[in-house]
Amino acid sequence: MAKTWTPSSWQSFPAAQQPEWPDDALLQGALKQISSYPPLVFAGEARSLQTALGHVAAGNAFLLQAGDCAESFDDFSAVNIREKLRVILQMAVVLTYSLGVPVVKVGRMAGQFAKPRSSPFERVGDVDLPSFRGHIVNSEHPSAEARRPDPARLVQAYNQSASTLNLVRAFVKGGFADLNRVHAWTQEFVASSPEGQKYDQLASEIDRALRFMRACGVDTESNSQLHQVDFYTSHEALLLGYEEALTRQDSLTGAWYDCSAHMLWIGERTRQLDGAHIEFLRGVGNPLGCKIGPTTDADFVLELCQALNPSRIPGRITLIARMGANQVEDKLRPLLRAVRDADHPVVWACDPMHANTYTAVSGRKTRDFDQVCAEIGGFVRAHAAEGTWPGGIHVELTGDDVTECIGGADNILDSQLDDRYQTVCDPRLNGRQSLDLAFRTAGLISSSGLA
Ligand code: TRP
Ligand code: MN
Repeated sequence: MAKTWTPSSWQSFPAAQQPEWPDDALLQGALKQISSYPPLVFAGEARSLQTALGHVAAGNAFLLQAGDCAESFDDFSAVNIREKLRVILQMAVVLTYSLGVPVVKVGRMAGQFAKPRSSPFERVGDVDLPSFRGHIVNSEHPSAEARRPDPARLVQAYNQSASTLNLVRAFVKGGFADLNRVHAWTQEFVASSPEGQKYDQLASEIDRALRFMRACGVDTESNSQLHQVDFYTSHEALLLGYEEALTRQDSLTGAWYDCSAHMLWIGERTRQLDGAHIEFLRGVGNPLGCKIGPTTDADFVLELCQALNPSRIPGRITLIARMGANQVEDKLRPLLRAVRDADHPVVWACDPMHANTYTAVSGRKTRDFDQVCAEIGGFVRAHAAEGTWPGGIHVELTGDDVTECIGGADNILDSQLDDRYQTVCDPRLNGRQSLDLAFRTAGLISSSGLA
């Protein structure tokens, strides 16, 4: 690895998963424009998130990272942003109340556009088209024209991220996240369901606790903790040109931060130790995630921690395990042991989605809610056995009433997937399944004696 890091030093390393931009002058023009724009986040916020994740690494807090698989240029509205935030707040309140520790809230939002692909081409009919790589690159529409990577999309992604983040900030500081409104976060289609009723009961208990505090003379009005939340953004740092264009030197500390989001993660397909993604991210001060699949061995994980966090800053690294429900317990335990014995202060999070994806008989890509829960169960058992803390979950969801994952309390069937299958990428949990998952996660951790 090169000794000196600069925001562009990644360019002399092999970069996997970069689109073939047809016109380099247009690409450079778009990147130059973005590099002249204001940063989306402030370095001090990224440091606050890292501190909060340090508490997760120490076993005193829990990470909830959630949002779309891929954000869409077409499905971009206040309602869409609000509904996603609403279900994340519901899950956060369930986890906070049930586990009795602070929940660090991180959205896959305001920048989660780029998608890695297993093949650069997709066969449609009798032609090979460039694969869809997310709206920041091209359109999913199956034509040569729509699939051509267009640098103007980089600028549009920046603009959509800025407006999304602006609304999220307004919601979480402006009253939408107020604990006095816990009841109001339940959507109509959720309210009458068993999960909805369970949530309603929990919300009533919180109301009662707030009344009790007021009765005791605590001034709940003036305590902003009860009315606001800190909400952070994250996405996969895939397109390194875009990330470089938003990398800025912090005026307070002189350190470099990737100001496209608070937290960035490295995907399962781009985590080569001698590759451009690790080279780029090792030099920015943001907290980082890395996906860890079933083929990962302990040596790799230790080298990764060494490369990205040589000074062992707590919360700097989140290892996001995505092993598959039936192998998570066996595959994870040696990794937990190795990291624990090497004293690396990491957050361990469970992505129960990505290794449990399959194609249903109907031809739709889907996930079974029971398998998703089973992966979290195995993740929690592995931690209980090794004496480590199951620090968080990383999930793909939407607040809407979609039919993309089968199972759950409303038992969505394979034959119903076509009803409301709206994702531009992977299948997401709907509002009911998401809330159910929060209750089950809390139950799994509590019953294992960990909280
Ligand atoms: N500020 C606290 C927190 O973020 C309490 C809180 C306020 C909260 N609104 C919330 C917790 C909504 C979860 C969801 O934890
Ligand atoms: Mn996905």
